Amino acid sequence: MHVFSVVVWLGGLMFQSAVAMPIFQLEGDQSKAAMRKVNKRFIGFVWMSVWTMLITGVIMMLLNPKFVWFEYRDRWSILLGVKELIFIFMVLYAFGYARMLKYLEAPSSNGGFSDKAELYRHRVNQFRKISIFLGISALLLAAAM
Ligand code: HEM
Repeated sequence: MHVFSVVVWLGGLMFQSAVAMPIFQLEGDQSKAAMRKVNKRFIGFVWMSVWTMLITGVIMMLLNPKFVWFEYRDRWSILLGVKELIFIFMVLYAFGYARMLKYLEAPSSNGGFSDKAELYRHRVNQFRKISIFLGISALLLAAAM
């Protein structure tokens, strides 16, 4: 379950960044609505992955004889600690990502889409790329545990 939720979250982010978004951008304005819908639908999967990773991670951590509360002396606990820190940052970026998508949805005072839409789209892409980098780093740490 733990690894599966990593696959859904990280795999989904990479699919969006490397496959879906370049095509949507090529298609121009008419595909922006579809892009928003894809992003919005994916956020649901991100939160499912976050909770699954957290719950399975904590269970595995508490059941592991190497785990001692607040002790980061050996390699395993240091790698786990850094991985948990990365996880917290990834969750913060997921909140930022969800917030930017909300702003992108919100119509502006003149009825059209917010004139900051370009900035929000840029932030969404930025947060996605940073999350991918963090996710791959956490994966490498997990492999080293
Ligand atoms: C983005 C964040 C994370 C990624 C990519 C990740 C990835 C992984 C992977 C791939 C494994 C399997 C390693 C193996 O079987 O060799 C693993 C194991 C584990 N993860 Fe995570 N994980 C993440 C977050 C967390 C969090 C937040 C916790 C704790 C709250 C956690 C606790 C654990 C534990 C205890 C294990 C078992 C380690 C062992 O058996 O020695 N992980 N993780």
